[in-house]
Amino acid sequence: MPPVTINEEETILGVRRIVKRIGATRADLIPVLQAVTNEFGFISQPAMEELSALMNLPTKEIHSVATFYRMLSTQPRGRHVIQFCESAPCHVVGGREVFATLKQALALEPGQTSPDNKWTLLTTSCLGVCGMGPVILIDTDMYGNVTPEQVKEILSRYE
Ligand code: FES
Repeated sequence: MPPVTINEEETILGVRRIVKRIGATRADLIPVLQAVTNEFGFISQPAMEELSALMNLPTKEIHSVATFYRMLSTQPRGRHVIQFCESAPCHVVGGREVFATLKQALALEPGQTSPDNKWTLLTTSCLGVCGMGPVILIDTDMYGNVTPEQVKEILSRYE
């Protein structure tokens, strides 16, 4: 077994705290994975291995759940995560143009993180505020009725 690095050690301790707080049954897996993503930005391989031992679940199963849900991540994410609603109601009120502008401004495609680790761009299905479409969620900030012209100004709020 390779030596454990300090970061891995912190991850393992953090994972143990999270499991102790939330629980170790199969039904706890998604909330636990969400908490690990929130705390560390992503679910690393050492985190999955520790969860496997603590929750008595195969690492493979944890990996499949972690890669199935968009709110979870097995890859490091940027400091700001942008989720763009790609569902039809937002799409038909100008979402396509807003998304094109967003991708161009960030020089990113969905699923990518910028080289400086500032941004991760994701698409999402309906965020539940269709009357405000097109909708962009940046971290926990929701922007509605977004036009292509507003994209740069919205991004500049995170300078
Ligand atoms: S379709 Fe975009 S928020 Fe519902």
